[in-house]
Amino acid sequence: MTEVETAEVEMTDVQEKISRPVGLLAELTHRCPLSCAYCSNPLELDPRSAELDTATWKRVFSEAAALGIIHIHLSGGEPAARRDLVELAAHCNAEGLYANLITSGIGLTDQKLEELAEAGLDHVQLSIQDVDPAAADRTGGFAGGHKRKLEVAAKVVALGLPLTINTVIHRGNVERAGAMVRQAVRLQARRVEIAHTQYYGWAQLNHSALLPTREQTERAVAEVEALRKELEGQIVIDHVVPDYHARYPKACMGGWAKRTFNVTPKGLVLPCHAAQIVPGLDFPSVKDRSLADIWYKSAAFNAFRGTSWMKEPCASCERREIDYGGCRCQAMAIAGDPAAADPVCMKSPHRPLIDALVAADSEATGEAVMRGFSRAAI
Ligand code: SF4
Ligand code: FES
Repeated sequence: MTEVETAEVEMTDVQEKISRPVGLLAELTHRCPLSCAYCSNPLELDPRSAELDTATWKRVFSEAAALGIIHIHLSGGEPAARRDLVELAAHCNAEGLYANLITSGIGLTDQKLEELAEAGLDHVQLSIQDVDPAAADRTGGFAGGHKRKLEVAAKVVALGLPLTINTVIHRGNVERAGAMVRQAVRLQARRVEIAHTQYYGWAQLNHSALLPTREQTERAVAEVEALRKELEGQIVIDHVVPDYHARYPKACMGGWAKRTFNVTPKGLVLPCHAAQIVPGLDFPSVKDRSLADIWYKSAAFNAFRGTSWMKEPCASCERREIDYGGCRCQAMAIAGDPAAADPVCMKSPHRPLIDALVAADSEATGEAVMRGFSRAAI
């Protein structure tokens, strides 16, 4: 048997035990015209000079198709900052991949939207910060941004592309969560994602200014859930509730290296967008290894796959194959141990750390620090 055949046998053997990924989040760039305080991108951003070139992204998408991936999420930063966005969307289409654009809408001209539709883009997810234009522009740090976003939403619908509105909930807009669902209906979105801030990357710096109180959170969750019934058949509501106030954690990423992964602007392949917080893991690059090799065989992807890495209380917990121990990055950030139960969990010995954070945040009055980007870099 040749060396190549031996490698193929080994890969097949591994493949039988590991599920195939279904989605890839392509962080095409970290450049962004907005400066949201709840940005979950890392503190240190990849510069434009380090971004993968067009040919490499196309190879990555071809490898993704061969790996069995269905959805490619073209994201950032702001993906419209990439001049090759239409070419990349066309390549996804040619490979039979469902291409979803995740955008702030800023920098996305009507002509670019028409070209993207022509290239076979399948879906647009547009972020909108608020229902109040002044508050929305303040949150994004971009004057006139809200007005442009509404125009982009109308253009997406006019082109016949399915539209999802993404809204991140924080202390500044939590009282308008329901109004944001109704705004999405008015914009003829098919889906709205109401996602309470996830405290990773830059957002973690700002949790004391962003975290709503428990009462505010409960009111917002109840309002959105009531709308889910009222608006059934008109819009699909995806509701990501804040886990600091929950009893059990979310199954972050649906489980580490189970369904989806990210590729950073410079080409690192990560099981989730915050994974670089976990020490001791060497995240491979698409420049050095194929996606298949990374997904099935890399030490970083296998580190927290499944349940065998778990310690107590997760190891013997009846929810271990429901939430997979929650979020490894939150366990690292709060408990200092990526193999610990997510400290949000009521069974975690670290839960008092979350309770102390929530108590301190509800007293805090400080202002959030906006994400700093250089507009000139766009
Ligand atoms: Fe999930 Fe672990 Fe908590 Fe059980 S103990 S609910 S598996 S985080
Ligand atoms: Fe990394 Fe949750 S963000 S596992």
